[in-house]
Amino acid sequence: MKISILFVISIIFKIFVISCSFPISCKFLKTTHNAIGSVYRCDTTNILETLTTSVTSIIGTHLIDKNNNDVTAIKINGIRTLSFIPQNFSSFFPNIKSITFYNSAIKGLFGDEFDEFPKLEYIDFQANTNLTTISSRLFEKTPNMIHIWFYNNRIEKVGRDLFAWIDVSKLKYLGFTNSKCISQELNNASQSAIISLINEIRLKCPYDDEELLITTTTSLATTTVEENLTCSDEKIKDLVCDLKDEVGEIQENLLTKDQRIDNFQDELIKIREEMQAKDDKIQSFESRMKWLEEEVLRMTTNPCACK
Ligand SMILES: *[C@@H]1O[C@H](CO)[C@@H](O)[C@H](O)[C@H]1NC(C)=O
Ligand SMILES: *[C@@H]1O[C@H](CO)[C@@H](O)[C@H](O)[C@H]1NC(C)=O
Ligand SMILES: *[C@@H]1O[C@H](CO)[C@@H](O)[C@H](O)[C@H]1NC(C)=O
Ligand SMILES: *[C@@H]1O[C@H](CO)[C@@H](O)[C@H](O)[C@H]1NC(C)=O
Repeated sequence: MKISILFVISIIFKIFVISCSFPISCKFLKTTHNAIGSVYRCDTTNILETLTTSVTSIIGTHLIDKNNNDVTAIKINGIRTLSFIPQNFSSFFPNIKSITFYNSAIKGLFGDEFDEFPKLEYIDFQANTNLTTISSRLFEKTPNMIHIWFYNNRIEKVGRDLFAWIDVSKLKYLGFTNSKCISQELNNASQSAIISLINEIRLKCPYDDEELLITTTTSLATTTVEENLTCSDEKIKDLVCDLKDEVGEIQENLLTKDQRIDNFQDELIKIREEMQAKDDKIQSFESRMKWLEEEVLRMTTNPCACK
């Protein structure tokens, strides 16, 4: 009983430790993208459940002669529980120009995801099977896009002004393949071809920012506690961290109580031993009484038999 309580407490404690920080593990490698040439990339596949959306540390070993400033690309692949793009990467990697994001649970790109990457040129989003919505403001701070690639997502709403922020003469690769509303892609295409695909996307996947605002508010109103906890709300994070401290205190209290229970058990053993000793005394007294009774009986039934 005692052990199982401690066990539960320590599990809770561990989950909270994970939740209050957000470390990302990187496997660093050199690779090449057709559209923008060679990049030095952080590949990560092990993002844990977290209560914060901001990366707090990077774990991983750089290739020889490389450091965080050399990292130009990030790839996040196969984290089915990840429902947002981790923020604050640029605090560690200030020169990101490529983001690859596969197989997540992300539902929408609501506008400020890329704001911290002014050098961004290349995005590749594939098999995010819950991704339906892209805000008009997604490229507001990233005018130099060369490669915008969405493949096998479930996109049905694309902000009307999505392409208004970017320099279309730079955009050469544009894919919206196997989306719900459209399936087309252009590789190393001319400006006129790009412009005509942009127009087709606007036509087939129409979406207004006003509409976006309304949907986000209503979807917020119906989110569950769990979803609230995964959002970036710093207040919630603080609360949970306070809670963690409290759990720590409770754990200490439990340890003191355990100590007291142990002491109590020692005392109990002593009392039992004393009681056993008294029992033994009573028993020997009883057997002497019995002998006496027998003796008396013998004397009364056979008075002449006494010695
Ligand atoms: C972003 O990363 C820096 C480290 O470079 C860290 O000090 C900071 O707390 C992080 N920001 C947030 C919001 O977690
Ligand atoms: C993603 O969409 C599928 C249905 O397409 C649904 O069953 C699943 O719960 C969704 N996942 C998340 C994390 O919303
Ligand atoms: C893109 O097309 C141009 C000509 O339109 C060509 O010169 C160039 O090599 C192509 N680039 C790639 C990466 O295919
Ligand atoms: C989720 O957060 C919103 C806004 O902070 C709040 O209004 C709502 O009550 C929360 N939902 C739950 C279930 O806690």
